[in-house]
Amino acid sequence: MTFSKRSTRTRVSTEGAIAAFGGSPMFLGKEDIQLGVNESLYDTSLVLSSMTAAIVARVGPHADVADLAKHSSVPVINALSDLYHPMQIIADFLTITEINPSTSATSLGLEGMKIAWVGDANNVLFDLAIGATKLGVDVAVATPKGYGIPKAMRSVIEHAAATGPQGKAGKLTETTVPEEAIKDADILVTDTWVSMGQEEESAKRLKAFSGFQITSELAKRGGAKENWSFMHCLPRHPEEVSDEVFYGPRSVVFREAENRLWSAISVLESFVVNKGKIQ
Ligand code: CP
Ligand code: NVA
Repeated sequence: MTFSKRSTRTRVSTEGAIAAFGGSPMFLGKEDIQLGVNESLYDTSLVLSSMTAAIVARVGPHADVADLAKHSSVPVINALSDLYHPMQIIADFLTITEINPSTSATSLGLEGMKIAWVGDANNVLFDLAIGATKLGVDVAVATPKGYGIPKAMRSVIEHAAATGPQGKAGKLTETTVPEEAIKDADILVTDTWVSMGQEEESAKRLKAFSGFQITSELAKRGGAKENWSFMHCLPRHPEEVSDEVFYGPRSVVFREAENRLWSAISVLESFVVNKGKIQ
């Protein structure tokens, strides 16, 4: 586990998952190894993969984890990059299926649902949009002007939607008006307005995002479905969601956090323990 950024959930759930399979997690923070300071990604990847069963990497630029994967002889799992957070989204869809159990034996039964994302268009949103549109779930995104989904990422999401396993891909829409995104949504989601690595932009971002805080009042004004749920990957800051929503009865955030453990177990089972045996 080589992490160049802080982590609570990803670290604890991954270490727990490795231990659950009888493995030994080895956590390397950015002060612990030579990576990036005194040794290249190429050399690090060859060395780590010669001695371990898998590499789980939390990085800044996505190219870093892609480079590790290119040269590694063992599976490399993305534990968050500036563009993606796949382990989070697997836990999120586990949570969504728990709160909306399927009545079908062959499908997750999520088609036709609507997720409203109100806040920053970031790594968590990008993977959420990929997962959702593949599963037939619509995603409506509200960001302040200038903070929307970059064009290149929109293409990635649209390509993923078109190649999903379900018959009908979900729709991705964008607006700068939170109420528009929230209209008829089943799930309201947000994340921090200042992701790790953007700390210097804090003041500018807090100003730009004012009016985007998720509150019960906003959900009502926007016309969310009557039984809407609230999700957040955590860590949470009060500016993006009110206490009333975050700690209220519609919030499933702590269940979502616990599901990081079960989904980390499933990721390791699929990609490391049963490598090549599961399609
Ligand atoms: N949600 C999430 O990835 O949390 P951590 O940054 O604490 O791992
Ligand atoms: N968007 C956040 C997610 C933290 C889990 C970040 O990248 O910092």
